[in-house]
Amino acid sequence: MTVSTIKIAPSLLAADFLHLGDQIAAVERGGADRLHLDVMDGVFVPNISFGMPVISAARRATTLSLEAHLMIASPDDYIHAMAEAGANSILIQVESAKHLDRALEQIKQLNKRAGVVLNPATPLESISEIVELLDVLLIMTVNPGFGGQRLIDYTLDKVRRAREWLNLRNPACDLEVDGGIDVSTIARAAAAGANVFVAGTAVFGAEGGAAVGIQRLLNAVNPPSP
Ligand code: DX5
Ligand code: ZN
Repeated sequence: MTVSTIKIAPSLLAADFLHLGDQIAAVERGGADRLHLDVMDGVFVPNISFGMPVISAARRATTLSLEAHLMIASPDDYIHAMAEAGANSILIQVESAKHLDRALEQIKQLNKRAGVVLNPATPLESISEIVELLDVLLIMTVNPGFGGQRLIDYTLDKVRRAREWLNLRNPACDLEVDGGIDVSTIARAAAAGANVFVAGTAVFGAEGGAAVGIQRLLNAVNPPSP
């Protein structure tokens, strides 16, 4: 895979919240493809992060595409609010959606990109009926709720199978991985077939700053020729 097909989606969860504007500008300059926004409600996952006010502030700070990853108990009820706040893509966990088909339809009607997210233990088969409806398929490579966790190896097999499905049924769909993506894991996730890589700690926690973190991730997939 070439660098241009490898897309980095920095997760704002790992940013310095006192300096969000600067942090967003740094990843925009550093070549981020989109900004990943982890919305957590303390019910679907055992953590609370941020919601619409932070998304609309990010909207004012950048022209990057904003991707809202909803880790909340009733995602169906917040689609409008996320779109209104400025999200360009809305990603719904299949485990918490009440009516997934309707939710995806609502997202598309708002002219936003529609995506689903599968937890590590959720089988790929749970979305077999709706593969063609997706703009984004996100495979969690950790259990959702926290940054800084280790990638769970068996999830990469699901990425491999998802790549086969998408090649056959929806090749334009992004195949994204989220959790534990760093310089030691990104190449394996890319080899499994992912093309979008969410990274929080590896970007915002990078020594030298977020732009350096993005470059290191890209280099780990495609080492620069000597
Ligand atoms: C976890 C979130 C991730 C998280 C990734 O629930 O969905 O987006 O921020 O963080 P890292 O890259 O540190 O594993
Ligand atoms: Zn996420």
